[in-house]
Amino acid sequence: MSSDQPIVAHSVADLRALVSGWRRLGETVALVPTMGALHEGHVSLTKRVRQEANRVVVSIFVNPTQFAPNEDFSKYPRTFESDLTKLAAAGVDAVFNPAPSDMYPDGFATTITLAGPATAGLEDRFRPTHFAGVATVVAKLLLQASPDVAIFGEKDFQQLAVIRQMARDLDLPVEILGGSTIREPDGLAMSSRNVYLSDAERQTAPLLHRTMQDAGQRIRAGADIGATLDSARAAIAAGGFDIDYLEVRDAATLAPVEALTGRPLRMLVAARIGKTRLIDNIAVEA
Ligand code: PAF
Repeated sequence: MSSDQPIVAHSVADLRALVSGWRRLGETVALVPTMGALHEGHVSLTKRVRQEANRVVVSIFVNPTQFAPNEDFSKYPRTFESDLTKLAAAGVDAVFNPAPSDMYPDGFATTITLAGPATAGLEDRFRPTHFAGVATVVAKLLLQASPDVAIFGEKDFQQLAVIRQMARDLDLPVEILGGSTIREPDGLAMSSRNVYLSDAERQTAPLLHRTMQDAGQRIRAGADIGATLDSARAAIAAGGFDIDYLEVRDAATLAPVEALTGRPLRMLVAARIGKTRLIDNIAVEA
């Protein structure tokens, strides 16, 4: 690990030249796609892939196509200088920070169409165009950086499933890894969007994780999944959240489940407090 400044590539051509140079030396490459506003969760992803590859590239690109018109694209936090400081301290080799016109030049016309986990009835019910934007930009980033391995946070659990499916379906020559969610001491999952929370909302926010943990424990102990989720939804709503969904799904396929199956399950939540929409998930192993 070093605290040298990472090399910053602002164009696809610069990124490709950098990666080709490493490849000529026989080095392997990992990519950590991000939208910046980096926190410890992102830093943990860079550390995790450092174990897998000689070189670590972090992309920072706030991808317009994954935001609907009514979402927070324009106010999404942009903190490039402090992101660079964090990545230097983490020993990252390079940052890819393309301009929107490099990613989506005039005349750009292609979008990846998804089924499978992208249509599981979770995020897609509330953000119907989101995963097409994510998959399209991630496919581009993977083709631009041609990494051996790429890592995505488990906090966006459905996104990770969508990306795994896409990489498999398109035979992308990359290994997709998931990185564990990093939490604040009170259990709130780290997220770039946590900066939107008022002080009072920030105090309430850990209720999501606490309630899921409670419900997970009861389900593991044999309680009925439907009834347990109903009372967990009531507890979350009583705390002042508007719930988009709270569900238990098969962890691999995201298919609905009604009882323990012997396969890994995942409990996933999305809920709004004030103007902020939070998502989180936990494992509910049988
Ligand atoms: O998870 C994110 O930050 C984004 O959805 C990603 C994967 C970087 C694509 O823009």
